[in-house]
Amino acid sequence: MFAFNFNKIIMPIFYGKAALIDFLNSIKTPNSTIGFVPTMGALHQGHLSLMQQSLAENNNTVVSIFVNPTQFNNPEDLKKYPRTLEADTQKIAHLDANIIVYAPTVDDIYEGKTVSQDFDFDGLENQMEGKFRPGHFNGVGTIVKRLFEIVSPTNAYFGEKDFQQLQIVKKMVRKTHLDVNIIGCNIYREANGLAMSSRNERLSASEREKAAIIYQTLLEAKEKFETQNCDEVKKWVTEVFDSNSIFDLEYFEIADEETLLPCINQSKDKNYRAFIAVFVNNIRLIDTISLK
Ligand code: PAF
Repeated sequence: MFAFNFNKIIMPIFYGKAALIDFLNSIKTPNSTIGFVPTMGALHQGHLSLMQQSLAENNNTVVSIFVNPTQFNNPEDLKKYPRTLEADTQKIAHLDANIIVYAPTVDDIYEGKTVSQDFDFDGLENQMEGKFRPGHFNGVGTIVKRLFEIVSPTNAYFGEKDFQQLQIVKKMVRKTHLDVNIIGCNIYREANGLAMSSRNERLSASEREKAAIIYQTLLEAKEKFETQNCDEVKKWVTEVFDSNSIFDLEYFEIADEETLLPCINQSKDKNYRAFIAVFVNNIRLIDTISLK
C-alpha cells in the first residue's frame, strides 16, 4: 500500500492491482460490503456525491481514477482529457480519508494489449452516443468489467447523466453474471442547471453560463411532451439550437428507457427519456431527463 500524505491526511492509494487486491482481502470480513465509484478523474461535485452515497451504504469505498484509452474514439479528446491526480486525491482525502484510491497505469489494466473486448449489448450500443462515438461502449464495457474483476465490489455507483452508459453496464453485468449491484444516481447540476461534467472546466465563464440553455430546453421539452408527439418535440428542440449560434446540436432524441430505441409512436406502457448532445466551442456536453 502507498500512503498518500496530504496536509497530514493519510489515505490508501494503489497504483497496481496486485497490492490493491491483497489490501481488499485483508480488510474483508464475511458480511462487509465494498462500494465502488469508477471515474476518469478530474473530479467534481457530481463524483463526490457518488462517493458520499457509497460511503453511506457500504463498509468500504473504492474509487478508481483511470483515463481509459479504449473508450476514446477521438485521439485528440484523449490527449486533452484533464489528468489531475494530485488535486483529485486531495478532494477525496477531504471527503473521507478512508476511501481507497486505485489509480492504475495503462499497463496495469491492459497488460500490454490496449484493446477493447467486443460486446453485444442487444442493440443498446447502436443508439445515440453509439452512433456518434464508434467503439466507445466496447471500451467502457472492457474497462468496467476489468475494474469489477479487480475490485469485486458489492455495489457500484454511476451517474445518470451517462444514462446510456448506465444501461450498458447493467446489461454487461447481467450477461457476464458478475455479482455486483449497479446503482444509478441522480444528476448533480451547477446552480444554473448545467449537468456537472469534467468538460465544464474547459468552457469559458460566458459559455458556462449560456450552457444553461441545455437543461432549460430539456425541461421545456418535457412539458411539451405532455401534449405533443415525439417528432414535434424533436423539431422544436432542433429549432432552439439552430437559432443559437454558439451551440451545435449533435443529437436530440426521445427514447424508451429500457431499449433506448427512438420513440416513434408514443406508447403509454413505456417510460421515455430525452437525450441530448451539444457542442459548445468544440466541447461536447451531454444531458438527459426522464419524461415520466
Ligand atoms: O463515466 C466515466 O467516467 C467512465 O466512462 C467510466 C465509467 C469511469 C469508465 O472509464
